[in-house]
Amino acid sequence: MKILVTGGTGYIGSHTCVELINAGHEVVIVDNLYNSSIDVLDKIETITGVKPAFYKVDVLDRDNLENVFKENSFDAVINFAGYKAVGESVSIPLTYYKNNVSGAINLYELMKKYQVKNLVFSSSATVYGDDFEVPFKEEYGLGTTTNPYGTSKKFNEIIITDLCKAEEWMSAIILRYFNPIGAHKSGLIGETPNGIPNNLLPYIAQVANGERDYLRVWGDDYDTPDGTGVRDYIHVVDLARAHVLAIEYAEKNKGVDVINVGSGKGYSVMEVLHAYEKACGHEIPYKIMDRRPGDIAVCYADTKKAKELLDFETAYDIEDMCEDSFRYYNK
Ligand code: NAD
Ligand code: UFG
Repeated sequence: MKILVTGGTGYIGSHTCVELINAGHEVVIVDNLYNSSIDVLDKIETITGVKPAFYKVDVLDRDNLENVFKENSFDAVINFAGYKAVGESVSIPLTYYKNNVSGAINLYELMKKYQVKNLVFSSSATVYGDDFEVPFKEEYGLGTTTNPYGTSKKFNEIIITDLCKAEEWMSAIILRYFNPIGAHKSGLIGETPNGIPNNLLPYIAQVANGERDYLRVWGDDYDTPDGTGVRDYIHVVDLARAHVLAIEYAEKNKGVDVINVGSGKGYSVMEVLHAYEKACGHEIPYKIMDRRPGDIAVCYADTKKAKELLDFETAYDIEDMCEDSFRYYNK
């Protein structure tokens, strides 16, 4: 298939481009490079032997985005383009809704106009909110989101579902990601956060490197085995493979499906910290702090639907995730 990947130079997008190319698909990337670098294209070429076509276009720029559709005949779109910082989204909600929702509507309108049938969308476990029991199941539907970022994912899910109802020739897979971490085995591509990392893994990596003094563990009084928060971490290469299976499934099946992409296992903050210590070969200092506002105790996926529909299973465990992160951060 010829696949338009928006946000394709970003963290998850770049790993997905590698897996798509390895599976024999042709990739065209659109990214405005807001949170990624043009060098990623050379790195994808080093890994796969193929340099993807690239357009530096903002999905909010409808005319230039349309030119990409005029110049290419796509079979499918994978939509990664968006902002993703939860805290920032609370301070600048309109910016988040404009980019993540208006940008997506531009893209979906062009898919309709140019008769591009298949879509995969990057949603998030955040759409479950804290309304449901773990493991989170797709059939629970949409919970109460607690920030504009999460709500922008929820709006996208609703818009895509309505679009596919109205346009029966279109099909979409909405992937609800749990916590992607890790990096490609080559150490060439991975996640490079700007400023002080909000997420656990990049923060641990910076403490391990000596860039920061200690990890702040946000609470040890949750109802979990060691009191720290439990999450479903998934290796980014496993997540990338799920996109290949999803786009191939969409091509063969009509309608919309929502699918969790996680490992189905929960690890606590302390378990992740210890796995990273094993990877880097030394102890990592930490301090227990108060709970972080908005955090839930436990979040992990029910993975049955991904297995049934996509035959998807994860290949990498928490040790691989930490080893691969360590390799990337130290390159
Ligand atoms: P990322 O920031 O590394 O990648 C997003 C890419 O989109 C970046 O390269 C950025 O430059 C680009 N982009 C942003 N706005 C754009 C615009 N208007 N036009 C064109 N390009 C634009 O983030 P990521 O971690 O790779 O996430 C990819 C997608 O997955 C996002 O939609 C994110 O919300 C979603 N997601 C991520 C996580 C996670 O933990 N990383 C979890 C759930 C869902
Ligand atoms: N944590 C710490 N210290 C830190 C950072 C995180 O103790 O410095 C803890 C958190 O309290 C939580 C766990 O580590 O228990 C994971 O936190 P992250 O910030 O890495 O991830 P979240 O689960 O909070 O959120 C992530 C993404 C969201 C996405 C969600 C989906 O940031 O965008 O996963 O499950 F919606």
